[in-house]
Amino acid sequence: MDMKKIIDKIKNDLKLSADELRLLLETEDEVVLEQIFAEAYRIKLKYIGNKVYFRGIIEFSNICAKDCLYCGIRKGNKNIDRFKMTEDDIVKDAVWTYENDYGSLVIQGGEIESPEHASFIERVVKRIKTETDGKLGITLSLGEQTPEVYQRWFTAGAHRYLLRIESSNEELYKKLHPADHNFARRLDCLRELKKTGYQTGTGVMMGLPGQTSEDMVNDILFFEREDMDMLGMGPYIVHNETPLAKEVKDFDKEKQFMLGLKMIAACRIYLKDVNIAAATALQALNPQGRELGVQAGANIVMPNITDTKYRANYQLYDGKPCLDENSSMCKGCLQRRIEKVNETIGFGEWGDSPHFLKKKK
Ligand code: 5AD
Ligand code: FES
Repeated sequence: MDMKKIIDKIKNDLKLSADELRLLLETEDEVVLEQIFAEAYRIKLKYIGNKVYFRGIIEFSNICAKDCLYCGIRKGNKNIDRFKMTEDDIVKDAVWTYENDYGSLVIQGGEIESPEHASFIERVVKRIKTETDGKLGITLSLGEQTPEVYQRWFTAGAHRYLLRIESSNEELYKKLHPADHNFARRLDCLRELKKTGYQTGTGVMMGLPGQTSEDMVNDILFFEREDMDMLGMGPYIVHNETPLAKEVKDFDKEKQFMLGLKMIAACRIYLKDVNIAAATALQALNPQGRELGVQAGANIVMPNITDTKYRANYQLYDGKPCLDENSSMCKGCLQRRIEKVNETIGFGEWGDSPHFLKKKK
């Protein structure tokens, strides 16, 4: 099948087959890619408008009980200083986010399951809600938890949750994680989050060792089947202090970057009305990474608002940008980048996923 037929189908709003999605992800023809990105962007404009929403992301702790083979803050990495911000510091950053009109905040940290951790987050969420008059939207990205904990944090005021499945292929998932990491539990957690009432997001990494384009097509079908509201996906990037790094011989930055853009475009074309983040990992591979992500169909960017002193210790992959910058610098920088591609920033708005809002009606 030729690509022209596929592009015509997209132009006519016809649903692509799995095989067509695969060809889209595999193409390296620059002219075709330009058309695909332009179509994905057209669909973004149609379903979202020419708006990008900011989520200030605070990476509040790198203490993690997990040992994912690709991740720089895995428990087994003894070469980083572990930190956890205080409750007051997190709330201070959240208030900064609110005062700078970002609309929403993402609280992310290593995966910890304990009664103390559950209460800590619950208190933080409640305080942020109170100190911002309930106006700052709160997304949590804190991994697998029990249904009770998800419920407590929801009641405290968090309304969105991100939990990447990392790969929807259970076999591949097993190769990327130690034996005690459980795919079935992660999936249960994702379903539980939806049941609790969260606007729920997931995502995968692209270009993982051993991952095929079929796997990524199946990831997209997984997002559809699980009725996800939001997607955060990024290309896999080697982190040298991890076991997986040893399996990667020639890391091809450009190829990984293009795969990141193609996956965003494919998801926008196929799923249409979900929120899609232009992940920071894109910018680690290309200085214009995030704005190119928006031009390939993404509508969310997450400016880092973590205190600069902690940033160097929260590196999930090598080459993470913005380590020496502070929140104000990242704000100005991203604002310029987004406005340069003729998009407006939805300051002061939550920017909920249209897919989620449609279901609520
Ligand atoms: N490259 C790209 N993304 C990574 N993540 C973790 N390690 C890496 C890496 N080496 C992603 C995972 C996780 C999210 C917080 O960061 O998908 O869910
Ligand atoms: Fe941080 Fe550009 S986004 S410096």
